[in-house]
Amino acid sequence: TTYEHIIVSNPKAGVGLVTVNRPKALNALFSPLIVELNGALKDLDSSKTIGAIVITGNDRAFAAGADIKEMKDLTFSAAYGDDFIENWSDLTVRIKKPIIAAVRGYALGGGCELAMMADILYCSKSATFGQPEIKLGTIPGAGGSQRLTRAIGKSRAMELILTGDTFDGQKAAEWGLASKAFETPQECLDGAIETAEKIASYSKIAVKAAKEVVNKSQDQGIKEGVDFERRVFHSLFGSKDQKIGMAAFAAKEKPKWSDE
Ligand code: HXC
Repeated sequence: TTYEHIIVSNPKAGVGLVTVNRPKALNALFSPLIVELNGALKDLDSSKTIGAIVITGNDRAFAAGADIKEMKDLTFSAAYGDDFIENWSDLTVRIKKPIIAAVRGYALGGGCELAMMADILYCSKSATFGQPEIKLGTIPGAGGSQRLTRAIGKSRAMELILTGDTFDGQKAAEWGLASKAFETPQECLDGAIETAEKIASYSKIAVKAAKEVVNKSQDQGIKEGVDFERRVFHSLFGSKDQKIGMAAFAAKEKPKWSDE
């Protein structure tokens, strides 16, 4: 299969590498890209030879968010009616093989959420994480409020989501969001591929079972939380401030909030 917005390769035996490749927009995650990502992951998941999957971006950006320009004019009824971004959950509910995110550069908003959906998160020390949606007049919509809070605790997550402040890869590892922070972006990608290769060397059936049981420890209640979050996220497309915030980003201006 050939893709327009991602690259799928096989850097080591048993390892599927998916590289998000929309560099001009800092890998902003628009719908066609998510459709390709889901397709590629499903193919790798059903492959007889692949044992583990790595998702990465480039040195500058893992992904700088969902595509603000794509969603800036979205209405509440369209968001809710079509269950906007519900297919982002395919990654977590449909893929049975382990996924390692190798985060280099920006992982903001939906990019941070995508990274947190992975089974293992590796990053470079200089990576930049954050949930800056509040600056756009909205909130995380793809699990950020639930997974960040689970990973780093309520006070830190609340502070980050309410301020929109970012944090680096070193902090991500210190706080337990990432299991490793590497000195350089290249070491991060190499490290992720190496771990994937090791996982791929084991019994596929045992690996599948191990992933399933570890996830059991996380899943109680998280689906409800993510569904709830997505509904509230949809409802903000009915607010004036979401339109103001995202239009300001696209026009490179500072938003003037209406509080409506
Ligand atoms: C659309 C984006 C984008 C995004 C960057 N670009 N992020 N386009 N959606 N999320 C585009 C820019 O508009 C610009 O396009 C090009 O990529 C390069 O970005 P610059 O801003 O010029 O780069 P720089 O000055 O280096 O700043 C980098 C940055 C900034 C700090 C990461 O781009 C930024 O703040 N991006 C938005 C981050 C964000 O708010 N993410 C959360 C989105 S909301 P042009 O055409 O001008 O070259 C979200 C909701 C998730 O993710 C909920 C459900 C999934």
